[in-house]
Amino acid sequence: MRIILLGPPGAGKGTQSERIVARYGIPQLSTGDMLRAAVAAGTPVGLQAKAVMESGGLVSDAIVVGIVADRIEEADARNGFILDGFPRTVEQAKALDAMLSQKGIALDAVVEFVVDENALVGRIAKRAEETAARGQPVRKDDTPEVFKTRLDAYRTLTAPLSDYYVGTGLLQTIDGMKPVDAVTEDLVAVLNRYTATATS
Ligand code: AP5
Repeated sequence: MRIILLGPPGAGKGTQSERIVARYGIPQLSTGDMLRAAVAAGTPVGLQAKAVMESGGLVSDAIVVGIVADRIEEADARNGFILDGFPRTVEQAKALDAMLSQKGIALDAVVEFVVDENALVGRIAKRAEETAARGQPVRKDDTPEVFKTRLDAYRTLTAPLSDYYVGTGLLQTIDGMKPVDAVTEDLVAVLNRYTATATS
């Protein structure tokens, strides 16, 4: 199964990805995690991405598409993957389409978490507090100021992807405001339609 999880910062993409990885036996490909790892390691990509990420903007399409193209070639992604945080622009979506069609594979679904934006800043603040309480480093972009820029970037550059994927017939929406377990149930109910199709 090859799916995309779509939604604004704090919508629950990462939380839900982690919960379904084992169930479907496919990896979570989070561009945010890959970029943070590159920043931490001080790689050339990390050096280019660091300031942009810390300001809440989007890293260039060329960099992110390159990272994903390499990652989906790895053995664990051969039978499927959960894309978390990618694509984030229509250009990235088109690049993904080209990448997959070159490999003769297709996406099964794009699942968008529909959320009340007013609740998201609270989720991000809570995550920052909880991370600090565990003694772990807090994401530099998890501040109310940077969150506003992230949300603006989402509205301007990423939200148009909903229409893009309506156009391809792949978009499914679920209510991301329910409690975490209820969101997982709804997500699994949607995804099981595709696994049922794949095995029938
Ligand atoms: P990325 O790491 O992708 O961050 P994001 O999309 O801003 O997403 P978050 O990780 O903040 O939110 P999430 O939806 O995963 O929610 P989560 O499950 O963590 O990107 C970071 C940066 O990297 C970008 O700003 C950009 O600079 C760069 N980047 C990444 N990909 C890129 C790309 N493709 N192109 C260009 N640049 C790119 O949940 C958040 C919190 O809410 C958690 O504490 C969680 O416990 C809680 N929560 C989750 N669900 C619920 C619920 N149902 N009810 C209550 N609380 C909940």
